[in-house]
Parts: sequence; structure tokens; C-alpha cells
Amino acid sequence: MTPPADDAAVPWWTGAVIYQVYPRSFADANGDGIGDLPGLLDRLDHLAGADASLGVDAVWLSPIYPSPLADFGYDIADFTGVASEFGTMADLDRLVAACHARGLRLMLDLVPCHTSIEHPWFVESRSSRGSARRNWYTWADPGPDGGPPSNWRAAFGGPAWELDPASGQYYLHSFYPEQPDLNWRNPEVAAAIGEVMRFWFERGIDGFRVDAITHAIKDPMLRDNPPAGPPVPPFPRDRTGLDPVWSDDQPGMTDVVRFLRSVADEYPGRLLMGEAYLPVERLARYIGAGAGEGFQRSFDFELCLIEWGAEPFRRTIERAELFTPPGAEPTWALSNHDLSRHATRFGERRSRLAALLLLAMRGTICLYAGEEIGMVDAPLSRTPLHDRFGRDRQRTPMQWEASPTGGFTEGEPWLPLVDPARRNVADQSRDPGSLLNHYRRLLALRRSSSALRRGALSLVAGLPADLLAWIRTSDGERVLIVANMGDAATTVDLSRIGSDGEVMAGTGSRDGALALGHLQLDPLEGLLLRL
Ligand code: GLC
Repeated sequence: MTPPADDAAVPWWTGAVIYQVYPRSFADANGDGIGDLPGLLDRLDHLAGADASLGVDAVWLSPIYPSPLADFGYDIADFTGVASEFGTMADLDRLVAACHARGLRLMLDLVPCHTSIEHPWFVESRSSRGSARRNWYTWADPGPDGGPPSNWRAAFGGPAWELDPASGQYYLHSFYPEQPDLNWRNPEVAAAIGEVMRFWFERGIDGFRVDAITHAIKDPMLRDNPPAGPPVPPFPRDRTGLDPVWSDDQPGMTDVVRFLRSVADEYPGRLLMGEAYLPVERLARYIGAGAGEGFQRSFDFELCLIEWGAEPFRRTIERAELFTPPGAEPTWALSNHDLSRHATRFGERRSRLAALLLLAMRGTICLYAGEEIGMVDAPLSRTPLHDRFGRDRQRTPMQWEASPTGGFTEGEPWLPLVDPARRNVADQSRDPGSLLNHYRRLLALRRSSSALRRGALSLVAGLPADLLAWIRTSDGERVLIVANMGDAATTVDLSRIGSDGEVMAGTGSRDGALALGHLQLDPLEGLLLRL
């Protein structure tokens, strides 16, 4: 299956906007209350190819593979299958073809660092100490005190080691005990994951988001991690209370990333986008624009961790510009299936400005399904309904219509919807001033303006405290992004940049030319001005 034609000089992911779908929650076609591939197929008009589409460049699907759901899809029992609740391989093939027919790329989630305990590889590995696949996972004898081999902790709490009573050895799991870590020091593991990638590339998949990649390699001596030092803002103190110097982001990681990239490079136009929760200076070695060098992209999660404010945003952008390797670009998102939605985190009244800032950034942008209508976290009780780590709140079904099940399903939704009568795609489509139409306008501008899509970025220095501004430049086109992130109206003199700017878009309804020498900005107002 051939992907859409590419502009040979510039890869499709340059400045691209990728839309993340959590498949269980997007659209349910068969009424079982769980989103599925036919449901997504029916809703592709929302994304691309129709008049009122958002006009994104690609869709990334969180895992669609068979899974016992200990970690809701991220514990995979078959890397090359489609879970029956999502449909069939034929549905997937249809989805690839339908996306490509609209010029939309389709990405999947690659989870290379662990499997489900039910994966046949682990079942075989666990069967005996002498099993041919024993060394596909990390097995170790108890420590000197008879307990776990090291003090390593799992990301979701508890020890990172689980005793297998039958063999008397422990196996390693960076996440839940149901997710044993694959042993990437074993070349057979690398070869097997390479085959998984080829399987999907052959079916026409345009790339992968690569899950939890920093966990691939561990210290072979299994040395104890030291206690966590002071946190490095904006990253919180490591949840485990330890500094994972021997179990995360190890020196050998570069080889793993290069191997994955070399497989992607066998196929033209395929993107690898890493997931690594690291400060951007440590992220840099995971990224490489050139063939075989690293992932073309890797999320910069600092934007998801900072407080709202001009200074934290400015510092985040400045750090990304400084540390992102030449030829590559930052990768930004404000929300995803693991984190509190930004309409909740930053506050709903800031959503319009947040969208304007995000879609004017330099780099590849990921939108999380529902953010375009301002979806917020569900106010579920603290007892999780499904996810033991409490992430149900940001995974509730997409709200298509005002009905109680939001047009998501005709059955009983697997998670309750939050507020479909208040926010939904159908109503917001009809309202020219809605957040959804604001996203559509911003996306259309990003597609039509080469400065916004792929221009260089330079921050404007010396602004009053609540103001943030930068300029994007490409092929003689210059766009000024200026935002008042504070709650008081303000006036700024930007005459050093130019005499005036033509409004391309904004959080409000201003248009025409504005004098930069006396620019008045309402609270939480943002503007894109053509210079
Ligand atoms: C990634 C996923 C998350 C999952 C974890 C383990 O962080 O985004 O949902 O729980 O990896 O696979």
C-alpha cells in the first residue's frame, strides 16, 4: 500500500500536526461501548479530507493489539494482531487505505520494551531456566538477603522485580508486574522487534510512536539506584524515591534507537517519534535527523509539566531551540492519554490561547483527541474504574453530539462521558466562534503559511512579565506570535519589530492591521500577525 506522495525535499513530518486517538474512546461502530477501527473509519471526515475537517497530517493510534488490559493496551500479547474489540486486520487495511486516500498518514504505537505476561515469548521464557527464550527477558536470582535482586522500583509503584516461584528467579518489570521487560542486550530481541516493525511497514503504516524507550537497557550488574536527589524542574521528583541511574536512560540506549531507526530507514517516509520523559538536553541523543542517527522526533514533555505563564513557556521554548539537534525539530503536545488534559491543568478559559501557542510552535505537534472541543478530565472518584494508575479521567470517550452517550456509542460506554451536552463536535461545528472552529482556522493557517509550518523561530526578548512573543520566518514570510498570558489587559510597544502587522488569527475576533508601537492585548489574548 503506497503512502501519499511526498515533497521529496522536506519529509512529511516537518511541522506536521499528528492527532492522537486512544482507540477505545474515539468512536464505537458495533455498539459494544468500546471504540473500534470501523468507528474511526466513519469519523475520518473530522480529521482530514472533508470541508470542515481539522486538516491534520497524520493519526497516531495508541495500541490496537490483543492485550489482557493490565495496562489498557500497553501490555501486548501479540505485536502483529488486531484486538477483536477493535476489529480485524481487514479493518486495519481498510483504515490505511482510507487515510492515504485523504492524504492522511497512519501511525501506530510500538511498545518495544515490554510485553504482556501472556505474550507467547514470555510464556516460553518463564517455562524453565533452560528455555530457549529465557534470555529474552531479564531474569535474576534473589539478592543476598533472599529478596529482589536490586532496589529498583517500578514506575507504577512497588519493586521492579517479581518472583517466579516455579523457577525461584525474579523477572524485571519497569511498569506493572504484568509487563515483563524485554532484554534488549539480547540481539534476538532486537531482531524480533525489527520484524514487528517491518510487518506493519509492509501493511502501509507510516510510522510509530515509540513507547517508554528509555527503559530498554539496564545496568548488567543490576546495581542499586541511589536515593533521588532534588528534582530538576519542571520534572517532578522521581515517583519511586530513587534516582534511576542504573535502570533508565543508560549509555547503551543510543544503539537501541539507532537500530530502530535503521529498520525504519529501510522504508521511505516512515517516522519514529520517541516517548522519553527526559529534560531536553538529555533527550537530544535520542534524536537525529539523518539516516540511522536517532528518532526523527521525540516528545519534549516539558510543555506538559510546566505551570501556565509567559516565563515558563518562554524558557521551555528557549531550551528546546538550544538543545534540539540541527536538522531535527522539537515535538510538542499539551495533553495525552497519560496526563491530565490541559483544559483541566491550565484551566478551561486558557484553552483558546493554549491552542494558538501550540499551533504556532516550531516543530511537530501532537493533538490529543478531544482537546479541539476543550474536553476536560472526568471528575471520577479516586477509585479507578479501570486503570490502576488513575488515568481513566483523561481517557473518557470522544464527545461527538449532545446526546448522553455523545454519539460515541449506541451501547453502554466503557467509561462514562464527561459533558457531551456542554461540549461536542456537532454543536461546535455550527458555532463560528467555537474552540473547534478556532482549531480549524489555526490548522488551516499552519498548512498555508510556510513560516508557521516550517519557519525558523526566534523569541522576542525584553517583554513585560505576562507577555510572550516569537517570530517565525521562512522564504521571506514573517509571522509574529504575541500573547498576553496574564489576567490583566496590557499594552506593549513592539515597534522595534515593525510598524504594523496584519491579523491572521487570534483568540478574539480582531482583524485588519494593528500598529505594533501601541499593541493592546486583552487578558489571555493571543494574535498571529503577518509582518
Ligand atoms: C507509556 C504509555 C503509558 C504506558 C507505559 C507503559 O508511558 O504512554 O500509557 O502505561 O508507557 O507501557
